[in-house]
Amino acid sequence: MQAAIQAAIKGGGHKTVLDIGTGTGLLSMIAATAGAKRVFAVEGSPVMARIAAETLRRNKMAGRVALLGALSTSLRVPQDIPEPRPTLLVSEILDSGLLGERVLPSLRHAIKHLLAPGGCCIPAAATVIVQCIECPQLRRQHVLSGDHASDHAGFGLTQDVVRLWVDEPYTCEQLANFPHRVLTDSKPILHLRLDGKDGGTDLVPGKKGSATLRATSTGTSCSSHPRQCYVLTECSLGCLFCFGLCRNH
Ligand SMILES: C[S@@+](CC[C@H](N)C(=O)[O-])C[C@H]1O[C@@H](n2cnc3c(N)ncnc32)[C@H](O)[C@@H]1O
Repeated sequence: MQAAIQAAIKGGGHKTVLDIGTGTGLLSMIAATAGAKRVFAVEGSPVMARIAAETLRRNKMAGRVALLGALSTSLRVPQDIPEPRPTLLVSEILDSGLLGERVLPSLRHAIKHLLAPGGCCIPAAATVIVQCIECPQLRRQHVLSGDHASDHAGFGLTQDVVRLWVDEPYTCEQLANFPHRVLTDSKPILHLRLDGKDGGTDLVPGKKGSATLRATSTGTSCSSHPRQCYVLTECSLGCLFCFGLCRNH
């Protein structure tokens, strides 16, 4: 992100930057240091907004970075962000499952209502990559097997209660911490444009992906739940690994 923001500001001449979900304020400070004259740092969580304010103060950035403690979707131009509008939007509101932090509605609103027409976005796109692995330890965290389900401190749990666990869509783990075996090759399953330059169609929920994976090793990716297996996804930003329960395998 740092290299991309620096390149965009130095090469693209962006003077005003919008940072949605500023968190600690890091991306805003990177943008200001790279040469942006004005940065609007937006943070919807009051606790995180206080942290950002203090971080900006300690780094002597408060004069160049304007902190807006609000959800970006509640902001308007020119009431909250004056004209001329920002020409560069930076955002790191991607969760480990990519879209769980309501990134699509936030970006859709920002591109339409806050960013200058034709403005740029970082990140501009994302790819989800899938691969099947065998990892009994992680599977136990998500699925109560028949044996576990019927004996919890001497009490039986109904399958409905067990389903609450199963319905957890995904979690984020560092694979290096879990012994696991790779069972298939990896393939991109979904590619999304996040900059609206496809006409915004990828910012509307509903896009589906599929991939055919080639088995590279024998192993088990399903056990007591024959229609479920773990799927490893890797965010194209590089650093996050997460597991989802795929109900189609
Ligand atoms: C993963 S953190 C961002 C980390 C940040 N880039 C940093 O370097 O510290 C995501 C943050 O975005 C905020 N957020 C998510 N969607 C938002 C929105 N639409 N408007 C304002 N804040 C938002 C969350 O409250 C959270 O603090």
